[in-house]
Amino acid sequence: MSRESVLVVDDEPNILKVLGEVLTDEGYRVVTAQSASESLRKLEDDLPDVIFLDVWLGPDDGLSLMGTFRERHPEIPVIVMSGHGTIETAVRAIKTGAFDYVEKPFSLDKILITTRHALRQRNLEEENQSLRRIVERNYRIVGNSEPIRSLMESIAKAGPTNGWVLIQGENGTGKELVAREIHRLSPRNGKAFVDVNCAAIPESLIESELFGYEKGAFTGAMTQKKGKFELASGGTLLLDEIGDMSLPTQAKVLRVLQEKRLQRVGGNRDIQFDVRVIAASNKDLPELIRKREFRDDLFYRLNVIPISVPPLRERFQDIPLLIAHFIEDLTTQEGLKPKGFTEEAIGLLCRYSWPGNVRELRNLVERLLIMIPEPVIDGAAIQSMLGNVPDVHESSIPHGSVPLKEAREAFEREYIQETVRNCGGNMTRASEILKVDRTSLYRKLKQFPVTEETGEEGASER
Ligand SMILES: Nc1ncnc2c1ncn2[C@@H]1O[C@H](COP(=O)(O)OP(=O)(O)OP(=O)(O)O)[C@@H](O)[C@H]1O
Ligand SMILES: [Mg+2]
Repeated sequence: MSRESVLVVDDEPNILKVLGEVLTDEGYRVVTAQSASESLRKLEDDLPDVIFLDVWLGPDDGLSLMGTFRERHPEIPVIVMSGHGTIETAVRAIKTGAFDYVEKPFSLDKILITTRHALRQRNLEEENQSLRRIVERNYRIVGNSEPIRSLMESIAKAGPTNGWVLIQGENGTGKELVAREIHRLSPRNGKAFVDVNCAAIPESLIESELFGYEKGAFTGAMTQKKGKFELASGGTLLLDEIGDMSLPTQAKVLRVLQEKRLQRVGGNRDIQFDVRVIAASNKDLPELIRKREFRDDLFYRLNVIPISVPPLRERFQDIPLLIAHFIEDLTTQEGLKPKGFTEEAIGLLCRYSWPGNVRELRNLVERLLIMIPEPVIDGAAIQSMLGNVPDVHESSIPHGSVPLKEAREAFEREYIQETVRNCGGNMTRASEILKVDRTSLYRKLKQFPVTEETGEEGASER
């Protein structure tokens, strides 16, 4: 195990000697420097884990040197030492970013304790950052198709506000990712993001889950418990699968949302909370309202900013990027071996209907990495998993009585889309095959949106 290292910067040789000995005895690797320039050289040669720095550094100003340290390596804690201890210098040091301040002549115990604290803080920060990186990676929205770009635009607009959002989209399209991204971009980032899956909680428990309960509220309520609304206070509450909430629960939730306060089950004290609510559903809520299974007043309350997440079949261009993203995840996090995909394999995946959307794609990639021994996944391997893949993108070439121009346009549209799909969304390849430059190809694809409903509009815009 490599030892933790400490850089000590002081112009007094005596201090360097004493500190050096004490810290070495404790098992640290010690590097010393007598001037600003020497310390900067040694800093870059061998990054220390902690720095001890004298404020009165001969002709050099210790505090401005600390500024340089902090700027170059904000992750390294700096402990400032001073022989002419005044409260003022201490305050200035801490304000400029020192981790702590010790006064000369110092107690060696104090030096060791401060070193340990600084190292612990540094390790926690490092751990925190690496966890954050993993979390951010796992929740990153991958894709650069037209539908994903416009989704990202809506997220960028809605995120920084406090507006309530209703996210609709099929199973596995990434609604939870969208909700987390909105929270990340909001002023509430850093506060709690609390997720409640309304479909997974039995009706008898939902109230105590959402609103909490007081001790003794029911048999088994041995202690008081906060509900999700309270836990999310200051942050964001994701009410997931809101379409599965029963009508009585909807009524209670609506009341709490309107009054912005609640009472725990078995309690009679009003508790205020401040949450941004994001609701998500894979059901058609207006349809549920028509069937009287969902309250329209709750719908209007939640639906301030509607965001809809498109199904994967309407953004097949993202499939190659998503595959690469999942392969990287599965190889780094699950220890699976990476594999390549042939163009034919990707072409087949671009035609598939993806009823389970992105989640289904992720599961398929995992299954392929585990089950297929060959280093490259080809069309046959895909068919062994998905069977014969029928093309979801049905022909829209008109039959019979339309002018030739219209039929020609319909054919062109379909032919371009088909070629792009066959190339797995790779526009450079498609433009080589079609002998149309990429820019015009993008323009043409934009004119012909991929969905059928908008296809008509797209065509008439021309
Ligand atoms: N654009 C994307 N980029 C990367 N990963 C994605 C993307 N969309 C979805 N995923 C992944 O697919 C899986 C499903 O996503 P998520 O749980 O957000 O979907 P959902 O719409 O909430 O699904 P459900 O309706 O089943 O609750 C997750 O593993 C998620 O990380
Ligand atoms: Mg979900």
